[in-house]
Amino acid sequence: MIKKLLIALLSTVATGSQWSPQCRCLPHESCWPSQQEWSALNNTIGHKLAAVRPVASVCSTQEFDEAACKNVTELWTNSVWRSSQPGAVQWENWEAWPERHQSCYIETVQNTTCGQGRISLYSAEVQNVSDIQFVVGFAKKHNLRLVIKNTGHDFLGRSTAPESLQILTYGMKDIQLVDDFVPMGASDNKAEGPAVHLAAGVQLEELYLAVGRHNRTVIAGASHSVGAAGGYIQGGGHSPFGAWKGLASDNALEFEVVTANGMVVIANSYQNTDLFWALRGGGGGTFGVVTRVTIRTFPDVPVIAYNVNMTTSSTNPQFWDAWKEWHASIPSLNDAGGSGYYYTLPNLPLSANMSVSTLMTVLMFPEKTNVTEVDQLYLPLISKLRSTTNLTVEKKALPLPSINSTVFDLLLAGPQYDSTGNTAMLASRLYSKDLLKSRDGRARLAKAWKSIGWAPGEAMVGHVVAGGAVAANGDKIDSAVNPAWRKTATHLLFSKSWDANATLAEQKAIIKNMTEVQIPILRSVEGENNMGAYVNEASGYEPGFQRSFWGTNYPRLYKIKQKWDPTGLFIARKGVGSEDWDDAGLCMTAKGTCSMEFDY
Ligand SMILES: Cc1cc2nc3c(=O)[nH]c(=O)nc-3n(C[C@H](O)[C@H](O)[C@H](O)COP(=O)(O)OP(=O)(O)OC[C@H]3O[C@@H](n4cnc5c(N)ncnc54)[C@H](O)[C@@H]3O)c2cc1C
Ligand SMILES: *[C@@H]1O[C@H](CO)[C@@H](O)[C@H](O)[C@H]1NC(C)=O
Ligand SMILES: *[C@@H]1O[C@H](CO)[C@@H](O)[C@H](O)[C@H]1NC(C)=O
Ligand SMILES: *[C@@H]1O[C@H](CO)[C@@H](O)[C@H](O)[C@H]1NC(C)=O
Ligand SMILES: *[C@@H]1O[C@H](CO)[C@@H](O)[C@H](O)[C@H]1NC(C)=O
Ligand SMILES: *[C@@H]1O[C@H](CO)[C@@H](O)[C@H](O)[C@H]1NC(C)=O
Ligand SMILES: *[C@@H]1O[C@H](CO)[C@@H](O)[C@H](O)[C@H]1NC(C)=O
Ligand SMILES: *[C@@H]1O[C@H](CO)[C@@H](O)[C@H](O)[C@H]1NC(C)=O
Ligand SMILES: *[C@@H]1O[C@H](CO)[C@@H](O)[C@H](O)[C@H]1NC(C)=O
Ligand SMILES: *[C@@H]1O[C@H](CO)[C@@H](O)[C@H](O)[C@H]1NC(C)=O
Ligand SMILES: *[C@@H]1O[C@H](CO)[C@@H](O)[C@H](O)[C@H]1NC(C)=O
Ligand SMILES: *[C@@H]1O[C@H](CO)[C@@H](O)[C@H](O)[C@H]1NC(C)=O
Ligand SMILES: *[C@@H]1O[C@H](CO)[C@@H](O)[C@H](O)[C@H]1NC(C)=O
Repeated sequence: MIKKLLIALLSTVATGSQWSPQCRCLPHESCWPSQQEWSALNNTIGHKLAAVRPVASVCSTQEFDEAACKNVTELWTNSVWRSSQPGAVQWENWEAWPERHQSCYIETVQNTTCGQGRISLYSAEVQNVSDIQFVVGFAKKHNLRLVIKNTGHDFLGRSTAPESLQILTYGMKDIQLVDDFVPMGASDNKAEGPAVHLAAGVQLEELYLAVGRHNRTVIAGASHSVGAAGGYIQGGGHSPFGAWKGLASDNALEFEVVTANGMVVIANSYQNTDLFWALRGGGGGTFGVVTRVTIRTFPDVPVIAYNVNMTTSSTNPQFWDAWKEWHASIPSLNDAGGSGYYYTLPNLPLSANMSVSTLMTVLMFPEKTNVTEVDQLYLPLISKLRSTTNLTVEKKALPLPSINSTVFDLLLAGPQYDSTGNTAMLASRLYSKDLLKSRDGRARLAKAWKSIGWAPGEAMVGHVVAGGAVAANGDKIDSAVNPAWRKTATHLLFSKSWDANATLAEQKAIIKNMTEVQIPILRSVEGENNMGAYVNEASGYEPGFQRSFWGTNYPRLYKIKQKWDPTGLFIARKGVGSEDWDDAGLCMTAKGTCSMEFDY
């Protein structure tokens, strides 16, 4: 009997991949749900099922609607509006499907037809957990390509997929603060302190406002409209206050999740601990639909924001010496509690005959109120910069009463949305503190980044969002976050875009150069097998994404993925297990074992 069972078990394992068909069901196939079945789903979820067209369709000849088109045109770059739309994500290249010559760009759609591209065919605008359970069950039953769109910010195309059914979590906005959170199943009811429960659709601005009202704060990102509970925290989530309290995912205490079998489970340090581990850094759209996350809150504190700019003529080679000096100063500023951002524009035209190279930096120092103290931290840097030929150095300390004020009056000042709606492809790398502490390391970093070659107006963005508590948490928190984060001093990236009318060949040329030339340059500084890249802010074509995004954590993540989602209902581009599927997540490729091979 036991032997028989064992054989049955073994053969199930051996033929495991046959549980799921090789390809998802497509429209016009007999497996596709009937009108009645869609309609029944619609009724079940409170009539919140929509047949979706790309947002710019109302500007195309066939579907032209003057008033609506005017609206869409005005709102095109508004990230808050894009978040709410089933027919949009934030980066228009992920709305298109260039390989099939389908796009619906506002810039080019006027006198043409609007191609569906990667925009989902149906969207379930879910309101609660049971809605999500129904939709997950429906997708599973009908073998549909399922995609979760929260705000659509994903830079790697994870919130759209062609021929898919979308779960739109945008409408789930509940926020509840609790004084002393006890995770479900905690031994001896051990409490974790003040926390906040966030439903799936809460966005960062909403979160900051809600906790701010109670004079509390959270570790979250610098954006109006990125989601607090979706891809951001599940991918790790960096923050301008990272050195103070760690990554966003370091502060996650519990997740509520609808899994591939339609069940609702709680994942925390006491139950479903493997899922809890994976959801903190393993990436969005992969392990289930997170319906709620509980994160720590902290008392709000004063901040000193410190801004240093350095500018010189773009013909002055000493700009890169200044750039190295800045990088040399990052470890000590970071050790003193500073985190924040810097922007380098090596080639910024000011007029027809004048271009400058400029580096603008701003670090936040929470819990500091004494400007003299922070001035002293910057003294060595400033004196080095002042001795650099023809470099203009400007600096300013800005004491702020609270993190709330730092977020709203400094980081998110200006329009109440992030400006999106164009095409974007990132190239990025995490660089270690050890690298920046070595003269030779800084030289290699500067040489590599200089060699990228900077067209007028192009920028590289630096993120000093690790160190401090992020580094210290490496010993305290076991999560799926890329281990490279614990050694990181800076996360550096640049973005490429193309015109809406770019041909497929032009797009491919940009991506190919990024993949085969530029990313290898970024990696060469510390070596391809050292450090890595941030899963949420990297190339959508990241070669060897498994190693790059998760390093040694990948095999464990892949196993957890197989356990919770053996048939691959949840597949996200360049996500855990996505190597078993084609780029669109529509058909399985040869079912691999945990592959660490480069995949392009
Ligand atoms: C303007 C801007 C500012 C940013 N600032 C920061 C920053 O300060 N710090 C930082 O770390 N990152 C930042 N990012 C990157 C950001 O973390 C990623 O874009 C992230 O993917 C956004 O997650 P989302 O849920 O809002 O977006 P989406 O694109 O909707 O989702 C991203 C991924 O998560 C999945 N997902 C979404 N919701 C769920 C859910 N409930 N359950 C399971 N899977 C889900 C989706 O399927 C997709 O795979 C920024 C991005 C932009 C565009
Ligand atoms: C969830 O929302 C649906 C409508 O969208 C409603 O019919 C249902 O009663 C709600 N369920 C719960 C548990 O609130
Ligand atoms: C779902 O029901 C609503 C309300 O009746 C309707 O407006 C909508 O078109 C329906 N969705 C689909 C896909 O039929
Ligand atoms: C235009 O946008 C406004 C505000 O968002 C909305 O109230 C209105 O219904 C929209 N009009 C059309 C035709 O879509
Ligand atoms: C679309 O066609 C109209 C009428 O032929 C023309 O006036 C208009 O300039 C065209 N628009 C674009 C963007 O090509
Ligand atoms: C936080 O900042 C916002 C925007 O400036 C402001 O409206 C709000 O009152 C602030 N909250 C607190 C508690 O100061
Ligand atoms: C928040 O702090 C302000 C200023 O110190 C105080 O006036 C207010 O009462 C506090 N609010 C809460 C909810 O504690
Ligand atoms: C510095 O500026 C002066 C005056 O503009 C100029 O003559 C000199 O060549 C500059 N030096 C460098 C290294 O750019
Ligand atoms: C730059 O061009 C402007 C106008 O074209 C001219 O007035 C100015 O003298 C030029 N400056 C230099 C440094 O050549
Ligand atoms: C501020 O810091 C400086 C330098 O560390 C110190 O000398 C001074 O006493 C501090 N001021 C206050 C008010 O603490
Ligand atoms: C640094 O440059 C930015 C952008 O031009 C500017 O807003 C800021 O005021 C500058 N800082 C200082 C200290 O001059
Ligand atoms: C490819 O990238 C390198 C490094 O950034 C750059 O110098 C080169 O011009 C790029 N080639 C093309 C064809 O874009
Ligand atoms: C594509 O658009 C850009 C700017 O939007 C324009 O300069 C260029 O001429 C267009 N190219 C073609 C082939 O239409």
